[in-house]
Amino acid sequence: MHEPFSDRAYRALLRVLPFDFRGDFGDEMQQVFREQRAEAAGPLAFLHLWLETAVDLLRTARHPETGQGFSAGELRDQVATMIVAGHETTALALFWSLYLLASAPDVQDRLAEEVRGLALTPAAGPAVLPRLVYARAVVSEALRLYPPAFVMVRQCVVADRWQETAIPRGSLVMIAPWILHRHRKIWRDPESFDPSRFLGDEPPVPKLAYLPFGAGPRVCVGAHFAMAEATLVLAMIVQRFRAGCSDTIVAHRRLLCLQVLPTPRPPH
Ligand code: HEM
Repeated sequence: MHEPFSDRAYRALLRVLPFDFRGDFGDEMQQVFREQRAEAAGPLAFLHLWLETAVDLLRTARHPETGQGFSAGELRDQVATMIVAGHETTALALFWSLYLLASAPDVQDRLAEEVRGLALTPAAGPAVLPRLVYARAVVSEALRLYPPAFVMVRQCVVADRWQETAIPRGSLVMIAPWILHRHRKIWRDPESFDPSRFLGDEPPVPKLAYLPFGAGPRVCVGAHFAMAEATLVLAMIVQRFRAGCSDTIVAHRRLLCLQVLPTPRPPH
């Protein structure tokens, strides 16, 4: 069913992905701001509005004790965090959901059946969300196979030990959801795309084996929002379009891109 992302394409992606957050990334951000301004009336108008609103809110924010606002650098870092933490992650979850649906027509048909005839408008969101059980399972499964935060890093504050391995104070410890999510001892048929594993009919996996949003004190503050948003948007897309996958990998600026192509669904 699901064709894993080819090694060659994955290695190519890894080569271009880790740009420097403070240098290249800052430049990229400025470019994004410029492009949004230039295309404010076009298809990116929504992102423009989102950025403007976010920046306005942050500009007026004051520290509750000192009354100080953000410096220009802090403002840029806050916007970068919102884009990377809140926007890019959810966009990736949606992209991989569509990519996986495109490679699994049966799953896509089942989802199309679930959303057929539902009133999927922003206003109807809260009422309709409980009915999007399979859509939510698809997003959960996409987050298992392609977790946007595929690795998290912690610094050890006291010397510790894990089995035979001593972990000196100050060591960086990497937690890799990507690996945990595909572990053969934890998941049935881990490489396959099977949203039904999230429908509650299977024995639950250990709590810390599924970490798309992290865990503990620094768990994602936007997790519930992100799940609601991704589930609703996926449902809205699948209600209107059929996702198919292009065989070609195209280059866009400095990134290589997989393409998921939408075809409008005929009205029922
Ligand atoms: C599918 C979407 C998302 C995924 C996969 C995701 C994933 C994560 C993960 C794994 C962490 C923990 C990082 C760590 O422990 O090192 C995290 C933290 C965070 N996320 Fe998300 N996130 C998503 C959406 C969002 C949204 C929509 C927002 C805000 C609206 C958001 C805001 C944050 C913030 C502010 C943190 C830092 C929390 C802290 O350190 O106290 N995230 N996210």
